[in-house]
Amino acid sequence: MKIGIFDSGIGGLSVLHQAMITMPEADYIFYADVDNVPYGEKTKEEVRKLVDHAVGFLVDKGCQAIVLACNTATSAAISYLRDKYKLPIIGIEPAVKPAVEHTSESGRRVMVVSTPVTARGEKLKKLVDKYDDKHIVDVVALPKLVRFAQDDDFNSKNVQEYLKSQFESYNLNDYSELVLGCTHFNYFKDSFEKLFPDDLEMVDGNTGVANNLKNTVIKNGIFTEADKGKKGTVEYYYSDRKMESPAEMEHIKKLHERLERMRQI
Ligand code: DGL
Repeated sequence: MKIGIFDSGIGGLSVLHQAMITMPEADYIFYADVDNVPYGEKTKEEVRKLVDHAVGFLVDKGCQAIVLACNTATSAAISYLRDKYKLPIIGIEPAVKPAVEHTSESGRRVMVVSTPVTARGEKLKKLVDKYDDKHIVDVVALPKLVRFAQDDDFNSKNVQEYLKSQFESYNLNDYSELVLGCTHFNYFKDSFEKLFPDDLEMVDGNTGVANNLKNTVIKNGIFTEADKGKKGTVEYYYSDRKMESPAEMEHIKKLHERLERMRQI
């Protein structure tokens, strides 16, 4: 069983990381479109064209299901891709619903952080309208954070200062839930933790997406008896180039290690 996992960059590794825990039997192909990251600063049409290319590449590699491990790509392109490709395509969107539900205990507010494309997209607006009947959800775009992540800069003074400046007009003590509406933001959980109250809950969609992927491949007969008990493999592509050198693989290993630490927060 071959599964494609796509992101504009290293953010999607957080989804792959969780998928490998939830469904270790699969052979994964991870595709990060590093030649074109960040997507969050492009137009919807530009994003759609790039994701279309990457999904076509993964289909040609034999993937039987594809995860768009990118809120921005999901927001801009999922309907188009589902019409065009005849295989299951699973998207990710900010986990607004569970975050709003959790506030019934705290009585406090929800902040959704994302890229600018996701923040101004129709998809997120509809999602917030659907669940925010108490008007407690604020959406904040953090345009530079994806670039920091791509530069392996996760908790430096620069990152802290950037976050502080973006949150300047908010009273962070008002929030009990922070929705990570961009997969790249998983790398910054320790930086967010320093700025928000101690009881902050950070909600990402990764477990939900991994469970959704597993249910989907079972339902579609992609996960078969022959896969049970198998130990899957992973191939990594940066745009259309396969990552193979020891230095590249070491870097990916380090990113997985960081993601594992962030997963425990
Ligand atoms: N990781 C992507 C997301 O979840 C966005 C990154 C980008 O701006 O390229 O939205």
